[in-house]
Amino acid sequence: MKTVLITGCSSGFGLETAQYFLDRDWKVIATMRTPREDLLPRSERLRVLALDVTDPESVRQAVEAAGQIDVLINNAGIGMFGALEGTSMKTVREVFETNTLGTMAMVQAVLPQFRQRKAGVIVNVTSSVTLKPLSLLSVYTASKAAVNAFTESLALELQPFNIRVNLVLPGRSPETRFGDNARRLMRVSIPDAYAEFAQSVFAGMGQSPNITRAQDVAEAVWRAANDPSCPFRIAAGADAVALAASC
Ligand SMILES: NC(=O)c1ccc[n+]([C@@H]2O[C@H](COP(=O)([O-])OP(=O)(O)OC[C@H]3O[C@@H](n4cnc5c(N)ncnc54)[C@H](OP(=O)(O)O)[C@@H]3O)[C@@H](O)[C@H]2O)c1
Repeated sequence: MKTVLITGCSSGFGLETAQYFLDRDWKVIATMRTPREDLLPRSERLRVLALDVTDPESVRQAVEAAGQIDVLINNAGIGMFGALEGTSMKTVREVFETNTLGTMAMVQAVLPQFRQRKAGVIVNVTSSVTLKPLSLLSVYTASKAAVNAFTESLALELQPFNIRVNLVLPGRSPETRFGDNARRLMRVSIPDAYAEFAQSVFAGMGQSPNITRAQDVAEAVWRAANDPSCPFRIAAGADAVALAASC
């Protein structure tokens, strides 16, 4: 029986992905900043562990407590919508600490066991915004594009050890807590000079009938974890798939 460790399982794609793997008889280590036992059905195959990917001690403790794992899914992430000029460097660092450096820290923490066993799969969840630039998303897009570039290079470096690395690129998903969490970081990120422009961007948002469902992401992650012949980048969700096809 295989074991997967997933980051950011308190809601959204991470929670759905944990459920998806549980339903398919995997052992699941669902990690959350604030562990909650009531989010997923009780199972002997489920462990809920505390993990904040921005905290090196938390990363060390979670990976040590997890023991042997076969697949790491770096899903934890925060959004940020706003103009760079109105965004504090503290906020920029917070976004990169979680989305970019948190992903690298988790990969680094599991590599010794993967390398020793000459086996393992890493799936990094980034975003379809890296396929085509969108307004007022420069910081968030940069944090995810950096993970794409990191993952591409890492895949080559880990090939000799039979460690596979893949990317999943979800599209826009209004059904997760992502938008609410992103708005928390948005408080001061639209300066007056950008207000009119931002209004036009807001007006154009959410017009596409295609969206991404959490289930689309869980399916894409499952594929990346289980199918060695899958593409290196997997778009998840109708909007992301259409965008990837048009690029
Ligand atoms: N929803 C979208 O439109 C969309 C589109 C493309 C890509 N994505 C990406 O998909 C991933 C999942 O997003 P989602 O839509 O499922 O959003 P979500 O519902 O907000 O879930 C994000 C998860 O990340 C966790 N998290 C945040 N900071 C963390 C940290 N420092 N350490 C550990 N966990 C942390 C959150 O935990 P807490 O409960 O502790 O905050 C939450 O469980 C993210 O990487 C996001 O960038 C989302």
